Parts: sequence; C-alpha cells; structure tokens
Amino acid sequence: MRKRFTSLHTASTRAMQATTCVFALMLAALICACSTPGRDEGAVSAGPPDRGVATAPVRYALPPMGWNSWNAFSCNIDEKKILAVADAMASNGMAQAGYRYVTVDDCWVGGRDPKTGKLYADAHAFPGGIAALANYVHSKGLKFGLYTSGNVSTCAGMSTDRHPPSWPQGANGGSLGHERIDAQTFADWGVDYLKLDLCGGKLSTFAAMRAGIAASGRPMYLSINPYSYNRTLRTRFADDGTFYAPAYADTSRISQDITESFASVESIVDIAAADAAWAVPGYFNDLDMLEVGHAFSADQDVAHFIMWAVMASPLNAGNDVRTQRDATRALLTNPGIIAVNQDALALPAVLDQTDSMGALQVWTRPLVQSGTRAVAFINRGAAPVQATVRFASVGLDAPHHAWDLLTGSPLPVADGSVSVTVPATGARLIRLDGRDPVAATGPLAAQRWIWSVTRAGSAANDPDSEVGVKVWPAAAPQPLLPAGAKRADAIVAGGVAYRDGMAVSVPTQIVYRLGRQCSSFQSDIGLDRRSPPTSRAAFQVWADNVLLYDSGPLSAATPPKTVRVDISGRDTLRLVVTPRSGGDARDRAAWADPSVVCTSGSVGAP
Ligand code: GLA
Repeated sequence: MRKRFTSLHTASTRAMQATTCVFALMLAALICACSTPGRDEGAVSAGPPDRGVATAPVRYALPPMGWNSWNAFSCNIDEKKILAVADAMASNGMAQAGYRYVTVDDCWVGGRDPKTGKLYADAHAFPGGIAALANYVHSKGLKFGLYTSGNVSTCAGMSTDRHPPSWPQGANGGSLGHERIDAQTFADWGVDYLKLDLCGGKLSTFAAMRAGIAASGRPMYLSINPYSYNRTLRTRFADDGTFYAPAYADTSRISQDITESFASVESIVDIAAADAAWAVPGYFNDLDMLEVGHAFSADQDVAHFIMWAVMASPLNAGNDVRTQRDATRALLTNPGIIAVNQDALALPAVLDQTDSMGALQVWTRPLVQSGTRAVAFINRGAAPVQATVRFASVGLDAPHHAWDLLTGSPLPVADGSVSVTVPATGARLIRLDGRDPVAATGPLAAQRWIWSVTRAGSAANDPDSEVGVKVWPAAAPQPLLPAGAKRADAIVAGGVAYRDGMAVSVPTQIVYRLGRQCSSFQSDIGLDRRSPPTSRAAFQVWADNVLLYDSGPLSAATPPKTVRVDISGRDTLRLVVTPRSGGDARDRAAWADPSVVCTSGSVGAP
C-alpha cells in the first residue's frame, strides 16, 4: 500500500508542476507534499478507524415547494383568501407540479391568552381559527404552513404601519421564550411547515423551537430567517460562534427581504453564490419567496425562477394564485425547471464562469443521473448574448447530448459545446448529458471530482488564503497547488505531515461519482497547522446524501483521525468540512491520504 502511494505521488507531482500556474488562483487548493520524486517520506493513513459521532437522519431531503401569503398580500390576509388560494392550488396544476405547502405569513396572530399561555388567531380575520384552516388545506391534499417570530412580537407587530387594524397594540404574538408551548400549539393545529422569523429577537429561539417541535412529536419543516429586521449574519454563524443554521433549520434565509426589483434578485443570487458551501444534505439556502408574476418582465420572471430552482432554494410562490396569468402558471409549473430544483442529488449550482463584462454568468450543478449537469445561463446585461458551454468545462466526457429545459427540446451539440441566446435580464436552463469521471482504486486527491464548492469572497485579502471560487475538474487528473506552493505546504494534519491529500479552506465540499463500483473510502483528517488555535472544524462523509461519518469538532491540536467507511453500492461520495466556530478565513482542513477501493480499474496502479 505504502509503495503504491509513493509511485502515484511521483506521477501526480509531475502533472502538478506543469499546471501550477494555470490553477494557482483556483479554489479548493489540493496540496501535494512536493518532496523529491520517489522519496518515501511522510505519514500514511494507518490508525484505527474513528467511528465518528452519532448523527440524526436528514429530516427533509429536498427543498420545499409551496406558496406563502406575504409577497402577495402582506398583512391584508384573512381565512377566505387562504381558503381560496388552497382551492386554486389544488386545481390549477400547481399541486400536481409539486407545490405542497400553503403558508400563512405574518399578521394572523391575535395575541397570547394570559390564562393558558397559548397563542390565538386574530378573530376578526380568522374567525374559524387556525386548526380549521389547516384542516381545510389538508382536505385539499396540501400541507399547511404558519409564521411565527423569534422575538416578543412579530416583524409586522413591531411596525405600526404594518400590523392589521384589528391587532391590539403590542399583541405580544412572538414566540420568544414560549417556543415549547407554541410548537405544541402549532402541532395541535396541524402545522406542517413553520416559518420562524428572527425579527431582531434572540438566536437561541431557533434551538428552542427545534426542541419544541421535537417534543411535540409532529414533523414540521423548520424554515428560519436570521436576517429579518435589518440583522445580518456575515456567515452561517452568530458572532459568538454558537449558532450554525443547518444544525437547527431545514432551510434558512440568506438575505434581507426580496423586493419587486430585478436588482434585488441579482443581489440575492450573488449572496447565494458566496453561501453555496453552507448547503449540506437536509439543509437548503432559502433565497426568499418568489416575486414571479408581479412586476418583472417575462424574461426577468424566467431568470428569477431558473436561478432559484438551480440553486436548490425553496420555491415558495408569492403571487395571488387566484388570479394568476397563464404565463405565470406555465412558468411556475415548468416541469424541466422543477425537475432540476427537486433533483435527488440536491446540490446547489455553483458559479462556473462570468464573462469579462460581468453580465453573463454560467452556473452548473450535477444531477442525480450519472453524467448529467444542469447549466443555467443568466444574462445580467442590457442586450441579448450568445452563451456557450463546453462539456469538458463541466467535466463531462463524450458522447454528448443537450436539452433546453424550458421547452424540453433537444439542442444541437457542435465541437463538444452548446450555444444558446440569452435575452437581456433573462436566463436559459439546459441539461447536458455525457459521461462522468468515475472514481477508481487509489488516492482520491489526483482524481476528478464532479462538483466542489468553498466559501468565496471573505478571504480575498488574506495572502495565506487558498479560498477562491469553485473549479470544475480538468480533463485529466490535475491536482491543484496554491500559488507559490512549497515543500512547507505539505498536508499537515494535527502536526503530522502527509505526502498526499487535499488541504481546503473551510467550509468546502467535494463530490465524486463512484458509479456503485467502490467498496471503501479512507482518509486521515485533521486541521492544518496553519489554522488558528481557536479553529474548530467538523469533517463529514456523505454517500448518496446519507451521512456515513461525522467527526464532530476537531481543533489544530487534535491528533489526526483515520476515517474508514463502507461505500458499497453508493453512487456519489460527498466530502464536507464545516467550521464549528465563527468560521475564520484562515481555517484549514486536511483530507490526508484520501483513497478509495473500487472494482473499476485503478489510478496509477503499478
Ligand atoms: C420579515 C420577513 C418577511 C416577512 C415579514 C413579515 O420581513 O423577512 O419574509 O415574513 O417579516 O412581517
């Protein structure tokens, strides 16, 4: 074993030396211990396998689809409107297309009963009560969602210009400090989806509500918003490092409220690009409720919907579906776009290319079927553009086929690429079919992955940074070196130097296609010696979105651990490193000597 690693390392080092300059600025810096070729030094994975920490199964594997009252009605809601919306959704094709949740946003609450301590609905707008409303929604084959706040009042309750006239002043209708009893009330009413809006409240409300939901015994999709009321979390962590959204929520907003302007859509897309590395199986970045069918042009509606879909965002329609136009309905129920959003691999798209004008962007994500990619082109400029994507640039080998997902029509492939015209402030979504690189026995560090992502942007001024933007695998195994990499840049986990591996900034994810032909994955793990002493990171190994290993928090002082997991019968391997503290830009994590054993050939076998 040790011998084979040495000769493989020699081959990959030569390849690296040839390609260092080209890839120096690219993201997920794969570092190889650049020792003299043939010299057998450094550690290899050897320790007893670490069993990891106990983990809970993923609650919801796909982003939710539904409708929410806020963008259509703001506080002008009542039960008649909600009943009519449920009727419309059940019969107009939206339910069949996958829209399940009918969510009543802010302004339903009347107050809190001082005797029972329970919330009650505004009797003027909801005379039948919430339980009856939920019951009706369920009778239509749909699921019921409800809003609450993590402060003492709701967001609208705090804005006198927003709350309904029937509300008593200071209705005290928020859930802060009442999470357990409110979760039970919501469960008793038949709530299936809870939107928990921070509204300037306390971050502790999220964990408290999660516990309350668990204690209630009723499954509820927990959708949180830590951003409301002008509060912005720079990362998925609170300043004190205690709050990590995926630990509590099934989905979390990542921005301030969307508005009816295309600039707002674009700014959320930019935030989503930087935040893609936070999405892990069972947790989705929420780009906010849709403005489709409101003030945008037809092309802008298409661009907005395509980008939300391809980023694996929840799709909550925000229009008045009782009166929606045919074109709006056709777009919201477009089967090709929805199939991408609901694809079982559930990876958000990552930004692959931006043209020199910053107008045309190419976003890509692998789909669950081996050898497929969804590619979204968004044109943020003022004139139509011709957009081209090469199959090789998204890691797909021939034979090649392509489809326009908006129309379902095949697209011509010429010289290994596909071109489409993208209207101004518009988008196109296409599917590429080819062949994925499939993992083979041997070190994983030199093999081609099908998707990778890291946090972008935050470390731009850090000279020691390996943070960049996502990169697709090149046509041949080409490990990446950071600019000016030296011997000193060897993988160093827990003070032990390794010859081979991937040292990544945190958070980072890498996905390999296994083709159901591999039996085991092994790697040592640890924080690189350059990480600050306060850094904490967790390593996770997922296969087909099933969690196989979770290290729990490690620090730079933790000795390396050996991970060994059975991946028999699995099609994808997802290596995830997330910070377990404030997410310092200098955090470094090392997958050291990662390797797989497969029945399919081998990489560089003797
Ligand atoms: C905040 C949220 C919105 C909506 C309103 C309701 O602004 O971000 O989505 O729920 O509160 O008051």
